[in-house]
Amino acid sequence: MTTYKIALIGGTGPQGKGLAYRFAKAGHAIIIGSRSSERAHQAAIDIASRVGDAAQVSGADNATAAESADVVLLAVPYDGHAVLVESLRAQLAGKVVISCVNPLGFDKRGPYGLDLADGSAAEEVQRIVPDAKLAGAFHHLSAVNLWSETELLDHEDVLVCGDDDEAKTVAINLTRAITGRDGIDAGALRLARQLEPLTAVLISINKRYKVRSGIRIAGLEHE
Ligand SMILES: NC(=O)c1ccc[n+]([C@@H]2O[C@H](COP(=O)([O-])OP(=O)(O)OC[C@H]3O[C@@H](n4cnc5c(N)ncnc54)[C@H](OP(=O)(O)O)[C@@H]3O)[C@@H](O)[C@H]2O)c1
Repeated sequence: MTTYKIALIGGTGPQGKGLAYRFAKAGHAIIIGSRSSERAHQAAIDIASRVGDAAQVSGADNATAAESADVVLLAVPYDGHAVLVESLRAQLAGKVVISCVNPLGFDKRGPYGLDLADGSAAEEVQRIVPDAKLAGAFHHLSAVNLWSETELLDHEDVLVCGDDDEAKTVAINLTRAITGRDGIDAGALRLARQLEPLTAVLISINKRYKVRSGIRIAGLEHE
């Protein structure tokens, strides 16, 4: 198995922490990023204590984390996303960058996808850092499921979009740590415009049926 050194930007939040836990458990080296290195260290301790002695997990401020990793995963809220990405432009240049950011709004009718000038959060990153190797992935996994004791989330699929083959391959490989199977190549980066707001549908289903729904694709030959 190929192992990666992965920075989780916003890794103190539930989604970043949950992904970091799954990746660390599978043997990847993790650097939790935060605006506060103290919060990052604390999150790294929480994750390492769940994974056990073999865990390679550390914490640092976002810029240091991104600088020292081969793969940078963005797990921050869309609010403030552009400012954060601008601040990391130098560290993201030329790197594989994976975004699980879902730009959603909520009103009295429920959740909905925001209309963005760039089309999607992933494309916003690509505009700000043109030479980053972008993929969108992990949008539809629940943070609660990621942090749970369930060995593998093998009832779910991870849809990966991107225009860069290396970035897509990394995201597809990393999915094995979560579902036990490769992620699914879902097409070009612009399809993040469909994948990101699809999460609003899942949240709506969760509320209606009191579940944590996910995505599974029919018609493929799954392992
Ligand atoms: N939660 C889920 O189940 C889930 C599922 C799929 C996808 N997602 C997506 O994953 C992303 C993270 O979700 P989350 O629930 O973990 O979010 P969150 O808890 O609101 O935020 C994650 C971390 O981002 C940092 N942060 C917050 N505001 C920021 C700002 N203005 N600038 C820079 N950093 C900021 C914070 O870390 P520091 O204060 O330590 O810097 C925070 O701990 C979101 O885009 C969400 O749509 C979430």
